[in-house]
Amino acid sequence: MESIVLIGFMGAGKTTVSRALAASTHTEVVDMDDVLVKRIGQPINDYFEEHGEAAFREHETALLKEALTNDSIIATGGGVILQPENQKVLADKLVVYLKADANTLVHRIREDKVNMRPLAIKNDDGDLKRLFFSREKLYEKLAKITVDTSEKSPKEIVEEIIQQV
Ligand code: S3P
Repeated sequence: MESIVLIGFMGAGKTTVSRALAASTHTEVVDMDDVLVKRIGQPINDYFEEHGEAAFREHETALLKEALTNDSIIATGGGVILQPENQKVLADKLVVYLKADANTLVHRIREDKVNMRPLAIKNDDGDLKRLFFSREKLYEKLAKITVDTSEKSPKEIVEEIIQQV
């Protein structure tokens, strides 16, 4: 099976869905944020503070290419679609957009006390929504499949993806 790349804003459920999808399809999962944390040797938030977002994006861009050399389920970080280089790389890949409305996303981001995302710490709810709206068209454009996750369980989302690939 070719790689399935999950994209979407923070809080879209990329990590949760990638694990469930990998288990259902007996495929390896690459959670890009997890790999990056190991690679940079510190939490993403600390890395953003010390080295800046641009340096993080360079690591992320390199990792995306690497991850795509194997067939796997790839959970991207929400900002992976920002780099034109990544947009090109993803253009002919099986990209699944996990969609949710802005209020749901912000709610999920604020509920998540384990994953302290740098962009969630420094932005208030209004800023986060504006950030989402500024990226929404890119997620939509890159997606081969879009799944609305707002009212669905991970299991239902996985079933919907599998039906469509
Ligand atoms: C980011 C999303 C995060 C992480 C980093 C930047 C973004 O991943 O890569 O904090 O720019 O949207 P998640 O989407 O998994 O939270």
